[in-house]
Amino acid sequence: MTQFITIAVDGPAASGKGTLARRLAEQFHLFYLDSGAVYRAVAKRILDLEKNPDNPEDALSAALYVRDHLTSEMIADPAIRSDSVADATSRSSRFPAVREIITGILQFYTNHPPVNQHHKPFQGSILDGRDIGTVVCPNANVKLFITASPQIRAERRFKELSARGIVTTYETVLQDMLDRDARDNGREVSPSKPAPDAVHFDTSHMDSDHVFEKAVELIRQKLS
Ligand code: DC
Repeated sequence: MTQFITIAVDGPAASGKGTLARRLAEQFHLFYLDSGAVYRAVAKRILDLEKNPDNPEDALSAALYVRDHLTSEMIADPAIRSDSVADATSRSSRFPAVREIITGILQFYTNHPPVNQHHKPFQGSILDGRDIGTVVCPNANVKLFITASPQIRAERRFKELSARGIVTTYETVLQDMLDRDARDNGREVSPSKPAPDAVHFDTSHMDSDHVFEKAVELIRQKLS
């Protein structure tokens, strides 16, 4: 019999949650949705129109645009990964009206994931973000909260940017990360925080294979 499941993976930037969620989706044949990418698409739309991510009306109209025109290309667009879009995203995503619209999109896909054609033990989705276990999918079957120290996360991001040929310093990356953490954790609506029933993984001193193996073990236990 096929079990319908939802898995929530939350945590701050560069904690390793995206890599983990993608691998888990493959392992359990689940639909993967990167909620940060949807928030990033909203911010990119604001910047493309030369509007202001700190203005709630500009942010709302971009969120409505994304709701009505969302494509897989939009969330796979490498341009949403730039630092300027990341900075704008932590600003535009703090408005309640924006969050309501994006939460609606995420819940729709969670409840109607593309059906996998083969007979598999599980159907469903895995979402990563900041408020998946608390707001978007409070009834998720499994909730993970992935963390790492800001210094380790900044080191990872610095290496990633350097590998892409982007010239910056570790200090700048660390400061940007602390600023974004403060905005994501401090906003009034849906701040980034673990659900009370989330299982925590600190990846500061764990490699991604180890995190993945532990998470697979935990999910198997919870679903058996
Ligand atoms: O996970 P990420 O770095 O791609 O997220 C980009 C921004 O979007 C970040 O500032 C947090 C915000 N975000 C959010 O507020 N809620 C989510 N569910 C996912 C991301």
